Amino acid sequence: MASIARTFEELYGRKPEVLAEAPGRVNLIGEHIDYSEGFVLPFAIADRAYAAIAARKDGLVRIASHQRKEKIFTIDINDVKPGSKGDWEKYVLGVIWTLGISTGVDILVDGTVPSGAGLSSSAALECSVAVALNTLFELGKSKEDLARATQKAENDYVGMPCGIMDQSVSLMAQAGAALLLDCRDLSTESIPFNVADAGLELLIIDTQAHHALVDGGYAERRASCESVAAKLNIPSMRHLTLESLEANRDKLTETEFIRARHAVTEIARVLDAVTALRASDFVTLGKLINASHISLRDDYTVSCPELDVAVDASLEAGAMGARMVGGGFGGSAIALIKASDVQKTREAVSEAFESQGFKKPRFFTSLPSAGASANLLN
Ligand code: GLA
Repeated sequence: MASIARTFEELYGRKPEVLAEAPGRVNLIGEHIDYSEGFVLPFAIADRAYAAIAARKDGLVRIASHQRKEKIFTIDINDVKPGSKGDWEKYVLGVIWTLGISTGVDILVDGTVPSGAGLSSSAALECSVAVALNTLFELGKSKEDLARATQKAENDYVGMPCGIMDQSVSLMAQAGAALLLDCRDLSTESIPFNVADAGLELLIIDTQAHHALVDGGYAERRASCESVAAKLNIPSMRHLTLESLEANRDKLTETEFIRARHAVTEIARVLDAVTALRASDFVTLGKLINASHISLRDDYTVSCPELDVAVDASLEAGAMGARMVGGGFGGSAIALIKASDVQKTREAVSEAFESQGFKKPRFFTSLPSAGASANLLN
């Protein structure tokens, strides 16, 4: 944080007014159901995005990143609207746009969330900028408002039709806990998630795979769910039970049916996972994590060979549960394992990847950490 303030000063010739940060996330369970008004159970990781920011009087927006600080992106605030220029800067511009900012700003961002690893580096970036702007301009927005605004930035400015999970957890997470989020009304409950006390560890395996299908595949899954809801005349998958789905099977295509089945069963698995966590029943949690992966792989078809190999190798090495996390088609998997099995699991996954000719996987662990925050500097 100190270094981002220093770099800001070197770059823009004055001190930042606000320093902010927001974490990436891992989703324990509840995948591809946030846009179906489901329940999800993510937690914030220690890796985060950082933003340093100060207002300008001339209506210019300048954006730079700590990694490539020689390149300052400049745009007039009046040109900050969907379709504007910008590459990754659009994540920042989108937030400026959805929050209705009409004043120029200098922004420097930095981050440690690996990008492309399915750990929501983009939501972390959006949320760090959102809390920074909220503080700088005293917008008085709640975390729910900011979650909706940052999701809209990604949907309408960046063009990715994501749900609301990643932004919500980045803003609302509590240290030491997973966040049970009801995506229908954004109400939350902190569910203590302390694997270390049980002698366990949650290993995060970045497969380093990023398949071209990502964006189109995601939008297509989301469209399927919306089509099921329209055909069955219900607001979302949240209103479906396995019985009502079976009873209406003839109204749906086979693909719609199996995708809806994923949504219905995954929502139930999240609630069962909460019960298991409350009872410190990690055996049941592991089984639910496994069932989630199978459903994502076979019904929702968003897994990929690298994710399946990471999951299978972890289970063979003794993991209690393993599954892909995030949107899928690459990115990361998680494995719930005995702390004493960490090394063995890493080796098993690495060997399996090598024998398949995949890129070398990367491994992380993280305790559940706190959500976004911003500080006004004097
Ligand atoms: C991505 C999206 C989220 C969510 C997950 C799948 O991370 O950004 O909104 O839909 O995929 O659970």
